[in-house]
Amino acid sequence: MTRQMLTNLFSELSSAVKKKDHPYRYFTMASCGFNGHIRQRTMVLRDVIDANFLVAYTDKRSKKMRHIKEHNEVSLLFFNPETLTQINMIAYVEIERDKDALKKKWDKIPDYSKIDYITSDGPGTIIDHPDDIEYNDHGGNFAMLYFVPEKIEILQIKRPNHVRASFEKTNFGWEGVFITP
Ligand SMILES: Cc1cc2nc3c(=O)[nH]c(=O)nc-3n(C[C@H](O)[C@H](O)[C@H](O)COP(=O)(O)O)c2cc1C
Repeated sequence: MTRQMLTNLFSELSSAVKKKDHPYRYFTMASCGFNGHIRQRTMVLRDVIDANFLVAYTDKRSKKMRHIKEHNEVSLLFFNPETLTQINMIAYVEIERDKDALKKKWDKIPDYSKIDYITSDGPGTIIDHPDDIEYNDHGGNFAMLYFVPEKIEILQIKRPNHVRASFEKTNFGWEGVFITP
């Protein structure tokens, strides 16, 4: 039964990549740098590969990239308010280094979405006014992140019993157990 829960989860995550209104489309990523300071932010789930890796896009100059380079373990949080299901993941992050792969993906991103990665000044730079943003029309700051989950927890709030299951990746694949909610 735990196996089925995990299969359903990855199927839901794959749907979230395609459906703009799916609750798992937006997730929270928490990261921690050298100094122990924790940061959280919302991200968009862009792809699920082989029910194994999750993909997100970002700007190379953002603070999360510094955190990931210092410590590449992150915590991901998904929440579905319709089913009251919470998903926690501990994942390692791999940064796409292949320039051709990055260019291929960049070329497929619609122009209206490209503005997220082409500001002249990096994310977090102080500006006088929200309209005071300049853009450079190149994809040099576009980055792809692959999240490789190592641990997953699923908690579903329901009657008569809440259901909580914990999964760990082993040499033999995912192993899941139910745990007390
Ligand atoms: C709805 C929404 C979706 C977002 N999606 C992304 C995303 O996919 N990638 C990203 O880098 N930032 C995304 N952001 C912005 C981040 O939440 C964050 O503010 C920004 O990346 C800077 O984070 P950092 O300084 O911790 O690196 C999104 C924000 C919102 C509100």
